[in-house]
Amino acid sequence: MKFIVKGGLEKTGLHGSIRVPGDKSISHRSIMFGSLAEGSSHISGFLEGEDSLNTLRAFQAMGVEIEGPVDGRVTIHGVGMHGLNAPEKAIDLGNSGTSMRLLAGLLAGQAFDVELSGDVSLSKRPMKRVTEPLLQMGARVETAEGGRPPLKITGNQSLHGFSYRMPMASAQVKSCCLLAGLYAQGKTCVTEPAITRDHTERMLKAFACDVEIENSTACVTGPAKLIAADIDVPADISSAAFFMVGASIADDSDIVLQHVGINPTRTGIINILKLMGADITTFNQTEVGGEPVADIRVKSAKLKGIHVPEGLVPLAIDEFPAIFVAAACAEGQTIVTGAEELRVKESDRIQVMADGLQALGVETRVTDDGMIIQGGNGFGAGTVHSHDDHRIAMAFAMASLRASGDILIEDCDNVNTSFPDFAGLAATCGLAIEVIDD
Ligand code: S3P
Repeated sequence: MKFIVKGGLEKTGLHGSIRVPGDKSISHRSIMFGSLAEGSSHISGFLEGEDSLNTLRAFQAMGVEIEGPVDGRVTIHGVGMHGLNAPEKAIDLGNSGTSMRLLAGLLAGQAFDVELSGDVSLSKRPMKRVTEPLLQMGARVETAEGGRPPLKITGNQSLHGFSYRMPMASAQVKSCCLLAGLYAQGKTCVTEPAITRDHTERMLKAFACDVEIENSTACVTGPAKLIAADIDVPADISSAAFFMVGASIADDSDIVLQHVGINPTRTGIINILKLMGADITTFNQTEVGGEPVADIRVKSAKLKGIHVPEGLVPLAIDEFPAIFVAAACAEGQTIVTGAEELRVKESDRIQVMADGLQALGVETRVTDDGMIIQGGNGFGAGTVHSHDDHRIAMAFAMASLRASGDILIEDCDNVNTSFPDFAGLAATCGLAIEVIDD
């Protein structure tokens, strides 16, 4: 699938009031915890994207009865901590790193063997970051060469709690250890070097599981059990981010993004854009299932380049493709450092974004852990490759709002992993994307 987005027209900016699809991180966890809980859990606002559907199918393959999704509603008939069955074949998790890393922890404590595989992109992603701590807990998990998927997990191991200091700021690694900790004897504590998203900790509490949190350490005590809960999944701030950037860079924009999750471990995008001069306000704030949500209003603004504070990087880790597009439209230089994790996402998001920006005439310099962007001139016409990375494709779609000619975006199929019907929703607020099926 390709996107062609028209540039060079008199643009009227982004308008309207929209709700982007459900939060991917929360959707994954709702299926995992609902499946292991005692009783039935009802989920609303579930993301019907390929990544979270792969998690759902994985639990169905392990014998969990799951109804839906229908209009974002899912009912999960939990089987309890020890009620999963061995799947008939290897579980294919497609493009979803979150599924693989969290499931590795959860399945390390089961009584059966299981293999986890993924698509070409996922098969290149580092898994030692989860297998090493799991081995320390007494699990048996093997990777393919170079610490890559597939993962082969041998069941019937007795896991023990441990204290782990993560070498990188990763919510996936933290969650993997905590989920294995539910099956371990004693206490499992994970300390993070910088704050990362805490949906696992919040949702475990919603499923009546005690999580102790002190400063940058989270602990669970095993063996633990979960009790069914109903979860209202907020709209994904990572999907809303594209519209925040689009509305900021396009003239005459005024858009409202409804019911967006504004968990403080995820709001780096708002803080970074505000430091760049964006006009963003939040209102109608409330809380659902232990997660804060709000409506977010974004109007056009004159952005300026900044050095992005490194402390905000893990809080906006998925938003850098969009932030790089904003930087290209901001007056002066934007410097991103301390973001080496971007190199091991669905693509190498530093290199792939720099290549695309350069193809559209933006001056960039790539560094090991970030990028320097000379902004202010917007974009020329051109062709960019998203390397099958959903967020690269959507970021460049927004670039067209400030482009002098058409932008052709290659390899857009994976937009469906996190944002089904992105083009349809974008059209309702003023960004026409021509979708071409190869
Ligand atoms: C996620 C954590 C992040 C993020 C990913 C989802 C999660 O990865 O990039 O899209 O749901 O825990 P890391 O924790 O590896 O940075």
